[in-house]
Order: sequence, then C-alpha cells, then structure tokens
Amino acid sequence: MGCKDGFVDWGATNKTSAPRRRADERGANMSNGKHGATTVVEVRSISKRYGTEARKRAEANVTQALDRVSFTVATGEFVGIMGPSGSGKSTLLNCLATIDTPSSGQIVIGGRTITDMRGKELSDFRRNDLGFIFQDANLLDTLTAYENIALALTIQKTPAREIDTRVREAARTLGIEDVLEKHPFQMSGGQRQRVAAARATVTRPHLVLADEPTGALDSKSARQLLESLERLNAQGATILMVTHDSMSASYCGRIIFIKDGRLYGELRRQGADRATFHHHIVGVVTDMSDAEGEEVAAHAC
Ligand SMILES: Nc1ncnc2c1ncn2[C@@H]1O[C@H](COP(=O)(O)OP(=O)(O)OP(=O)(O)O)[C@@H](O)[C@H]1O
Ligand SMILES: [Mg+2]
Repeated sequence: MGCKDGFVDWGATNKTSAPRRRADERGANMSNGKHGATTVVEVRSISKRYGTEARKRAEANVTQALDRVSFTVATGEFVGIMGPSGSGKSTLLNCLATIDTPSSGQIVIGGRTITDMRGKELSDFRRNDLGFIFQDANLLDTLTAYENIALALTIQKTPAREIDTRVREAARTLGIEDVLEKHPFQMSGGQRQRVAAARATVTRPHLVLADEPTGALDSKSARQLLESLERLNAQGATILMVTHDSMSASYCGRIIFIKDGRLYGELRRQGADRATFHHHIVGVVTDMSDAEGEEVAAHAC
C-alpha cells in the first residue's frame, strides 16, 4: 500500500490521546483550505455504545459503534463519510441529525451544542437548521412535489409570498421543474430523491445530512443527484454525505474514513479533477479493506 495525495492517516492517532489532540486542534484551526471559512460542525470525541452492560463481563452485550470520534466541518464544505459496512457511518450521521444521541462527547452545530438540547428547542433546531436526505426519499405520498417542498417552508412559517419563489428556485437547481405537479408515485426514484434534496435545502439549513442518498438509484440518476448536490454546495450549502460508493464520494471536497467506529483518515480533493480524486479514494478504500486493522494503516506513510 502507498500514501495517497492529500491523505492524512489518523489510524495511528487513534491509539494514543496525544496525537488525537493534534487532530482535534487541526480541526479547531479549520484547516479546510478555505480561507476565512467558519466552523459549522464540531464533533468532539463522541462515542456511541449500543446494548446493555451486563453485570458480569462475560455477559456483556455491547456494541461500540463509535469510539471517540472528533472532526470539524467548515461552512460551505461538501464532506463524504466512508467506511466498511458496520463501521458506524449511519450512527455518526444519526447523532448529527439528532435522531440518536451519543453515549459521550459533544456535537456543536452552528455554535449550538445539540447534545445538550431537549424537547422544543431540539425540534425547532431540527426543523430550522438541518436538512435530511435519506436513501428512501420519504416524501409524503398525498402531496405533489411542489407541495412536499413548500411544506418545509410552511412549517418554518416562511411568508406565503416567498414560498413560490423559493420552491421554484430549488426546483431549478435540482432540475425537477417538470415534475413539480406530480405525486411521488408518478416520479422515478431519481426524481424523488432530487425532490427530497430540494425539500432538504429549500429552508437554507446550516447543514444538509445525507445517508446513502444514491443507494437506491441507477448510475444515471445517481449522477444527476450528485451533480445537483454539487450545485447546491456551489451555492453555499454545507453537506455531509455518507456513502460506501467511491464514485459518489468523488463529488465531495473531502472524505472522512471511519473503520470500526474510529477515524481512519481523511482525504482532501485539493483541486484535483473528479477522476483523479476518485482514483485516490479507491486507493484508500482498498487499503482499508486490505489492512489488518490499524496496524497496517499506521505504517502506511
Ligand atoms: N440500534 C442498534 N442497536 C444495536 N446495535 C446497533 C444499532 N444500530 C447500529 N448498531 C451497530 O452499530 C454498528 C455500526 O452500525 P451503523 O449502522 O452505524 O453502520 P454503517 O457504517 O452505517 O453500516 P452500513 O454501511 O451497513 O449502513 C454495527 O455493528 C451495528 O450492528
Ligand atoms: Mg448505514
């Protein structure tokens, strides 16, 4: 295995607390290559354990889905999260989405510590500051595409006169103007996902979270969705996308790799064209699956 351009190996840093602090500090300094960007997401050493702690050790039935994960995301970044099945990607995204809560650690989004939020504060935050795109578009079947997108604004109490302009703007960005009057069952899977992306971003949230948004799409629809996400990102949306697919990941500006619930490393695009970045991503993914845990990763560079 060899070093990939722009790859920062965090495999070794996960072993001791001192290098881990270095990774945290690097994040805090916002070394995202975007001059003047501010931090929108700060994940501070979160862990997630599922299951019950049995009294006797032998009976312990606990899954450590995340283990002291720390990173930051700057405003305007398009970040991919990759890792093998079961590595903790969805758990991480669900913690950011406030669908799940970490067992320890903190998450700060837009300057607010979401891991301390409860009740109405949390539901307001979820509605106003986050956008979600899941593998299954999750649109309301009884509403048209237009109504599905507009609903997000209505719930936010956007003035009626603004709604039409905003829905049409979002539809243009996502290339779904011709399906606005259709119901979900009258659309293709790809169109549904782009409507879901419009619904997630029309409210201009601090952060758009996507878990395998292309997972159920054919390659042409996947490309269209990813190009749409790229356009949204170019317009300023900050996007965090979980994917196991290196082609999808190649649309991102940075990839965070996790393995066994721990940060494994990150890869920055650094101006590379998509084909080159894709090549580098495939290299890291191959290394990850070849590597016998972090021992090999630690010796990579
Ligand atoms: N609700 C739960 N209860 C118990 N264990 C869970 C729960 N959810 C996830 N896990 C476990 O946590 C680990 C991480 O799961 P997660 O769903 O985050 O993986 P993933 O990286 O998203 O995988 P995939 O690529 O297959 O979607 C796995 O071992 C999984 O079995
Ligand atoms: Mg998952």
